[in-house]
Amino acid sequence: MVPTPQDIAQALVAPHKGILAADESATTMRKRLASISVAETPENGHRFRDLLFTTPNLGTHLSGVILYDETIRQNASTGIPFTKLLADAGVIPGIKVDLGLVPLYTGSLEEVSRGLDTLDARLAEYYELGARFTKWRSVIRITDTLPTEASLVANAHVLAQYAVAVQARGMVPMVEPEVLFDGTHTLEQSREVITRTLTILFDTLKAYQVDLRALILKTSMALPGKESGTALVPADIAAATVAALTQAVPAEVAGIVFLSGGQTPEQATQNLNAIAQLGTQVWPITFSYSRALEEPVLQAWKGDDAAGESAQAVFIKSLTDTVSARNGTYTGE
Ligand code: G3H
Repeated sequence: MVPTPQDIAQALVAPHKGILAADESATTMRKRLASISVAETPENGHRFRDLLFTTPNLGTHLSGVILYDETIRQNASTGIPFTKLLADAGVIPGIKVDLGLVPLYTGSLEEVSRGLDTLDARLAEYYELGARFTKWRSVIRITDTLPTEASLVANAHVLAQYAVAVQARGMVPMVEPEVLFDGTHTLEQSREVITRTLTILFDTLKAYQVDLRALILKTSMALPGKESGTALVPADIAAATVAALTQAVPAEVAGIVFLSGGQTPEQATQNLNAIAQLGTQVWPITFSYSRALEEPVLQAWKGDDAAGESAQAVFIKSLTDTVSARNGTYTGE
């Protein structure tokens, strides 16, 4: 029997697992390679993805992997399509489907994601290629005057139109209104902006009759701005984050996953652990990290084939730690 979007959503937030967001655009992948002084070629981007996806026992720790348009069409070095390799390992292939950001209007400091006009045709193709869930990222910036109501409403409508289209194709939409860590704001401002963003988003999703039982929310944690000079205190971050989610996210939502958002791998792990230690919530909560999972692997690999196995061992260690954090049992050892 073909799993329903509700079944897929539940599998994505299954206990003791999380999601790898390996959906960097070609431009961002080049930056990742540059950060380890490896030639910024598509071939090296492919080698890195190959290293991640061929890691043994991936399905023990990962429920899903988010791919990018380029990678969902690629084969592993063994010749097997990446989507098949992942599915055979028990990992659900997903795909990022927004086409990046444009200004909300000419001269605006805020942005909205584009790609709705070509979405349905792309969804049909991605389903054929093996994708069973999708991600759409919007960006919300905090300053003294932002975000504006207009930007929150515009982004909510785009996310809702995306979610309707994805469910109509039998896939799970992951909606990601990323509230940026960049800035000088306080933890309280972050909590307030996340609450407002998600309240408007869920009101809009309901207006579009999106099935929340077949939808995953991907959210930022409430954090004091990166340039605020405030230390990240896991217990405070956890309390503010769970307060925002409790206030704004309906109980029917299939699950909530966090992005790492520019926190160090250790911060992202500690903060997830503190959130889990607050106890069971009405929705399953896990991770959907990119940088926090990939950075240690990039550093261990540095483009060297001979370091492949040890880099895969580093990846497994990061996954094990992050799963422990998801369970609230990370000890930092
Ligand atoms: O859109 C953001 C990614 O899916 C998550 O990336 O964990 O590096 O913030 P991150």
